[in-house]
Amino acid sequence: MRIIPVDLGHCSYRIVLGHQVFAEAETGRLLAAAASDRKCLIVTDTTVGPLYADQAQASLVRAGAAACSVVTFPAGEASKTLSTVATLYEAAVSAQLDRSDCVVALGGGVVGDVAGFSAATYMRGVSYLQFPTTLLALVDSSVGGKTGVDLAAGKNLVGAFHQPSLVVGDLTFLGSLPVREMRCGLAEVAKYAMIMDVDFYGELMANAQLLLAREPRVAERVIARCCRLKVKVVQADETEQGMRAILNYGHTFGHALEKVGGFSRLNHGEAVSAGMGMAVDLASAAGLSSVDLPSRQDDLFSRLGLPLTASMPDVNPDDVLAAMQADKKVQGGRLRLVLPREIGRVEVLDYTDTERMLKAIEGRLG
Ligand SMILES: NC(=O)c1ccc[n+]([C@@H]2O[C@H](COP(=O)([O-])OP(=O)(O)OC[C@H]3O[C@@H](n4cnc5c(N)ncnc54)[C@H](O)[C@@H]3O)[C@@H](O)[C@H]2O)c1
Repeated sequence: MRIIPVDLGHCSYRIVLGHQVFAEAETGRLLAAAASDRKCLIVTDTTVGPLYADQAQASLVRAGAAACSVVTFPAGEASKTLSTVATLYEAAVSAQLDRSDCVVALGGGVVGDVAGFSAATYMRGVSYLQFPTTLLALVDSSVGGKTGVDLAAGKNLVGAFHQPSLVVGDLTFLGSLPVREMRCGLAEVAKYAMIMDVDFYGELMANAQLLLAREPRVAERVIARCCRLKVKVVQADETEQGMRAILNYGHTFGHALEKVGGFSRLNHGEAVSAGMGMAVDLASAAGLSSVDLPSRQDDLFSRLGLPLTASMPDVNPDDVLAAMQADKKVQGGRLRLVLPREIGRVEVLDYTDTERMLKAIEGRLG
């Protein structure tokens, strides 16, 4: 079991990671500090709820929660909407949650983002806990306090920064995660290596097979390293005024691919993988990085079973570029992109060469 502190002044909290962590006495103590004598509303989805809600509920009751109810919404990105948020507000009212009570997000990034946004806004803000159950949520979305929902116009267009009061990640929950969802998280794992940790790139190249097999010690070490890297960035720039933008590597391309695919053809990780491919090709073509950087990134992605392209040859690159222009990272009409310089180092740039961008997009659509 590992405990990683997140130092954000009065919003500081801890990340507890390990196998069977809910059975650990220390987890019980931290849960008691966050939830005892409070009414808790566990928010989960239709896949995760039947698997783990009873266990989460029992842990919260053992930790002294005053009451603990569960609300479930349909699994998947399509539920990341304001209408789901409205149903969560209704559930909070029914459970008589007041400002001293708390929301518990039990699930992947969708549950975490929607539950976190509901907690940020219900009664002008109640506390919330994250119990991440996907690899993506463990290494990325449960840490750092970004919450939000999608609009028809694009992903994550409505949201709030709201830090959780505790994150408890039981890695045994990964045992039931489908391989496709596992890969989704591996895209974010690979991202950390590419943007800020060349040694981690080497570790992932060496341990890809064990990681794919979910070997417990390797999985725990890798997930903890990702959390520490994310914490480092969030501590330096909690509300994305500067450095935190590096975490968006591949995401401006990726979100656009998700959108042109109607949010159903690619999942988030697949889109971000192809998006990082587009970004590295663009960096190399623009002379920002060495010519072999795309193949070095592709080597790592192949080992991790990540897609190198979007597999959407029918899509027009202009539509992807148009979707990128609508992304919220456009500032003053200029597209802001995270582009790699070398493994472990990226730069955030206002990029204007449309021709080169279209070429980079086209090269990874098929
Ligand atoms: N807030 C942030 O900082 C941040 C960062 C990255 C991504 N995100 C968001 O996260 C979302 C993607 O998250 P995700 O990939 O976790 O998707 P998800 O929450 O939709 O989970 C993927 C699927 O796996 C199922 N699942 C979850 N845990 C399971 C388990 N242990 N066993 C079996 N099935 C399980 C879910 O029910 C769902 O069907 C996107 O909306 C993205 O925008 C947010």
